[in-house]
Amino acid sequence: MPRASSIHVCSVCGHETPRWAGQCPGCGEWNTLVEEARPRFPAAGASGGRGASTRAATPIALGDIEAAEEPRIPTGIGELDTVLGGGIVPGSLILIGGAPGIGKSTLTTMALANMLAAGRKTLYVSAEESAAQIRLRAQRLGDGGALALPVIAETDLATVIATLEQERPDVCVIDSVQTLHCADLSSAAGSVAQVREVAGTLMRTAKALRIAVLLVGHVTKDGALAGPRVLEHLVDCVLQFEGERERTYRTVRAIKNRFGSTNEAGVFEMRDTGLVEVLDASARFVGEATRAPGSVVLCAMEGSRPLLVEVQALVSPSELVPPRRVVSGLDRNRVALVLAVLGRHGSIGAGTSDVFVNVVGGVRIEDPGADLAVALAVASAVRGIALTGGDAAQPMACFGELGLTGELRTVAHADRRLAEARKFGLGGVIAPESHRTLKAALGAALGSRSRVAAAA
Ligand code: TYD
Ligand code: MG
Repeated sequence: MPRASSIHVCSVCGHETPRWAGQCPGCGEWNTLVEEARPRFPAAGASGGRGASTRAATPIALGDIEAAEEPRIPTGIGELDTVLGGGIVPGSLILIGGAPGIGKSTLTTMALANMLAAGRKTLYVSAEESAAQIRLRAQRLGDGGALALPVIAETDLATVIATLEQERPDVCVIDSVQTLHCADLSSAAGSVAQVREVAGTLMRTAKALRIAVLLVGHVTKDGALAGPRVLEHLVDCVLQFEGERERTYRTVRAIKNRFGSTNEAGVFEMRDTGLVEVLDASARFVGEATRAPGSVVLCAMEGSRPLLVEVQALVSPSELVPPRRVVSGLDRNRVALVLAVLGRHGSIGAGTSDVFVNVVGGVRIEDPGADLAVALAVASAVRGIALTGGDAAQPMACFGELGLTGELRTVAHADRRLAEARKFGLGGVIAPESHRTLKAALGAALGSRSRVAAAA
């Protein structure tokens, strides 16, 4: 039975009702009523006129507002600090999303241990694992500095808030927002209402006591942070932890940042002693590139940093209707578009074959410049021709966006992409700067050998 302290609110029209119903009595939409805590104080302005005790606020000119920029708290993990825009802003709320097993607990434990070692007061709140489990993880991490971390294993929100008020840490980690539970709500931990209430309460406490909070959040299968778009509006910064659990490489990128750019990304590797920053990712990926048919190196941008990655394609006859299109590390719809353009304007059709496209190393690329790499990898796989660069011992590199009419479109930071390729000895990069159309790019990549192969 719902408790009197909760109400049901329509997420479309905001209609409030004490009982849940399938259809909103206010607007008639279905399945939009969400349980929420009844506000402890009437919402300001909600009912128009207030009592005589409510005073109006006095607006202040922006220039008269004191805004001394407080120094940030470095996490001691360079890649993470870069993504955050130079460390953690005191009193801010940061959401770290990622699939189970990706390394969220490991990363936050390591960051907290560094901050503790630098003399900050820290607290690790685990609502997911027992204190003993957290200790076992901390033992695996590097120099054992993490063993000094103060932790509590607690799922009750009120207890966590009381602990924060008593301990007043500079930085605290809540692992995770979906497993904390607010006793005022009857819905289960992890429901939209619970997550919203937990995050909202933590935010008020964090802002009032100037505690920086790292909120760990799980993501759903389709990659969205579970439950709440609402969470994204609430917090100052949203970090997405990506990669595949079975692979070693992981990336952290900011998808929202009130205190910095959302262009940065950090690359990590999971070792048995925790996450290690990968500072020479391009060198590794180029070194491991196969130079076999179906492989090409993409000069990608990870935020403001160039990164060379290998894109692979396999095209094989299929019995399935429709044939499979399996993509990892890239946007599926974008690959479908590239296949269509390749068929229409490059005369290389995948037809009824299965097509597999993969970015090697478990890296996820969100860069329009990846189009050409997909096209060349698939073309190379279909024709069975290995793509090599200016120097035949080196893999071929490329970047560029494909237009629907078969043109190659320029993408941002061409100079830095080219410079990165040059740095690793990759010459003859195929790019929109030198080739205006997909046809021209295919001609350059497959060269005269393609005509031989086609004639044969
Ligand atoms: P974890 O941080 O618990 O992931 P999350 O909190 O995102 O669910 O760790 C993820 C995986 O990493 C786990 O399966 C074990 C592995 N791991 C290592 O390989 N090395 C390590 O040093 C640690 C701590 C974990
Ligand atoms: Mg965890």
